[in-house]
Amino acid sequence: MLDKRNELNAWDRDHFFHPSTHMGMHARGATPTRVITGAEGVYITDTNGKKSLDAFAGLYCVNVGYGRQKIADAIAEQAKNLAYYHAYVGHGTEASITLSKMIIDRAPEGMSRVYFGLSGSDANETNIKLIWYYNNILDRPEKKKIISRWRGYHGSGVMTGSLTGLELFHKAFDLPRAPIFHTEAPYFFRRADRSMNEEQFAQHCADRLEDMILAEGPETVAAFIGEPILGTGGIVPPPKTYWQKIQAVLDKYDVLLVADEVVTGFGRLGTMFGSDHYGMKPDLITIAKGLTSAYAPLSGSIVSDKMWQVLVQGSDQLGAIGHGWTYSAHPICAAAGIANLELVHELGIVENAGSTGAYFRSELAKAVGGHRHVGEVRGDGLMAAVEFVEDKDDRKFFDPAKKIGPQVATALLERGVIGRAMPQGDILGFAPPLCLTREEADTVVKAAAGAIESVLSNR
Ligand SMILES: Cc1ncc(COP(=O)(O)O)c(C=O)c1O
Repeated sequence: MLDKRNELNAWDRDHFFHPSTHMGMHARGATPTRVITGAEGVYITDTNGKKSLDAFAGLYCVNVGYGRQKIADAIAEQAKNLAYYHAYVGHGTEASITLSKMIIDRAPEGMSRVYFGLSGSDANETNIKLIWYYNNILDRPEKKKIISRWRGYHGSGVMTGSLTGLELFHKAFDLPRAPIFHTEAPYFFRRADRSMNEEQFAQHCADRLEDMILAEGPETVAAFIGEPILGTGGIVPPPKTYWQKIQAVLDKYDVLLVADEVVTGFGRLGTMFGSDHYGMKPDLITIAKGLTSAYAPLSGSIVSDKMWQVLVQGSDQLGAIGHGWTYSAHPICAAAGIANLELVHELGIVENAGSTGAYFRSELAKAVGGHRHVGEVRGDGLMAAVEFVEDKDDRKFFDPAKKIGPQVATALLERGVIGRAMPQGDILGFAPPLCLTREEADTVVKAAAGAIESVLSNR
């Protein structure tokens, strides 16, 4: 076993190009390789036999928890009966057709069709193309600009990395690309004017959006994209009334709304979709992660009836739509999606995300909110974050070079719990599987309190 472990570590250093990893340190062996061998429920096990409670559900995706036999069986069955057939020129499989029906049955009002992809990034790439196509069919060739937000995360392709509003994803990649613009993040804790209350700050964000639309020219602005709650940008719920105020601006200038529900879709906020949770009225919805709980890679762009009618006119004018991927609506992934959505229902995990989420966040706030280096404990449903500050009264942030967030995440792991040091700011994030129990929530809170104390007691 030791030999095998050493061999894997060497192969990993020499051959594996990891995403979102310090390449040099990893190749030199300065950062550890962690090889995961199995998982059950909310726990994962590594090659050293260490079990950890995964309070980030992989990358907020394993919503039903690990080791679900029902999904494994559905995948195996589909692979045996029909491992693949494409979806081009009107082809389908029982799995892909059934899943599209299940998604629309669960989606917010006014949604009509699902285009399937494999990742959140490619689904947002599809969304951009559909928005451009839509405005071309409506004979508005100028209306192509897309407004995103600083701290938004929408993927890391060329266009989707441009939509993403985090420095790390732009640096040295020549991103963002035109025609993508970023407006203010709805980040109440970091608002510049601290005299504003939540509603005033929401109005401020809507005003900044309106200023940008006017400055660019409303006839050139096609769409606005946002996650219902900022995820990778720091797990930041919107200030009260934010989405209502944003929606009013979008309606005024005929700008489409893309709700990026890659994280929030299928239950994470205690409702099936975050759009319903915050009263958003999207024209397109991006889904991925929770669609299969990551048992197989599958994403989707859910298209509203309003857009669909125009897209149909498009093919009547131009012929078949020139957009498609070999693996779109892959039957094995669709079978995983069906079994997963059935499990979501059978286990009642949407409701659990609401109730256990509220319990978890309140226990976390009680345990660490009073710490002199904790600026804010926030979240919604089963998403939570603890933001660290050097000085609470002055809201002075730590020097990023001190890497407080990553240090706390490491101390947490030493206590057997996985959280995530969010990439921008000293923020410890949690997004556990939606089947989390109260006892498991208590374990996470206890470990978080211990980790925070150990890193920050002497600062
Ligand atoms: C809101 C959101 N959109 C899009 C993506 C990109 O998804 P993927 O990593 O599957 O390309 C992510 C990934 O975390 C996400 O959080």
